Amino acid sequence: MNRIGLIVAMKEELNAALKEFEVINEFKIFDLDFYECKYKDKTCILVQCGVGKVNAARCAQILIDKLEMDCIINIGVAGSVSKYVNIYDVVVGEKLVQHDFDLKIFDHKRGHIPNVGVYMDCDPYLVKLAKDIKIDSKVHLGTIASGDIFVTELAMGEKINNKFNALCVEMEGAAIAQTCYLSNIPFLVIRSISDSPNKEANNHINFDDFVEERSKVSVQFLKQLLNKIK
Ligand code: ADE
Repeated sequence: MNRIGLIVAMKEELNAALKEFEVINEFKIFDLDFYECKYKDKTCILVQCGVGKVNAARCAQILIDKLEMDCIINIGVAGSVSKYVNIYDVVVGEKLVQHDFDLKIFDHKRGHIPNVGVYMDCDPYLVKLAKDIKIDSKVHLGTIASGDIFVTELAMGEKINNKFNALCVEMEGAAIAQTCYLSNIPFLVIRSISDSPNKEANNHINFDDFVEERSKVSVQFLKQLLNKIK
């Protein structure tokens, strides 16, 4: 895997990544800015997709169709929905699920996407490499749930945890997963925990404080992963 697509959702995440890579070329496709970076023997194309599943999916499809990536890695921040996962920890996705996908009326389980299923598996080779990475933060391996909602209510977080055994929530990973799955492109999602839904619904305070610094952690993790990818 030599051509690696790197998707982030937010400006803070983009800036954290840009600080760590040497940009050799910049170009635009539609409204999106792409940064071609050299990292050792790899060509990485970094892009900020914007928030949410549609933005993430169309960005992944552009990386696949127009830029011929060998794999796609999504990094960024997430909210913990597990009592075992704390702010500062990192979650490596083994599987992704869309917690807001609902065809229950047609007898499908919550999260079930026709022709895809409920869970989408991250690439086993990339997961295996990620498993061995040691950083200062605690690293968890498990299910990441995505949906077009910033989860602030404890009850919603608990529901997502119970239903899908998810460790954290974010708004893009499973859309990238579905796009890659349908195009047969390996993918991985790495998220650093910036907040945790709570009763007071004040996790935006945590979020703003932590997002910039948490973004740095997922970039550090990513660099170590890039060192290992063959
Ligand atoms: N990304 C970071 N924190 C999040 C949350 N609580 N809900 C959804 N996406 C997030």
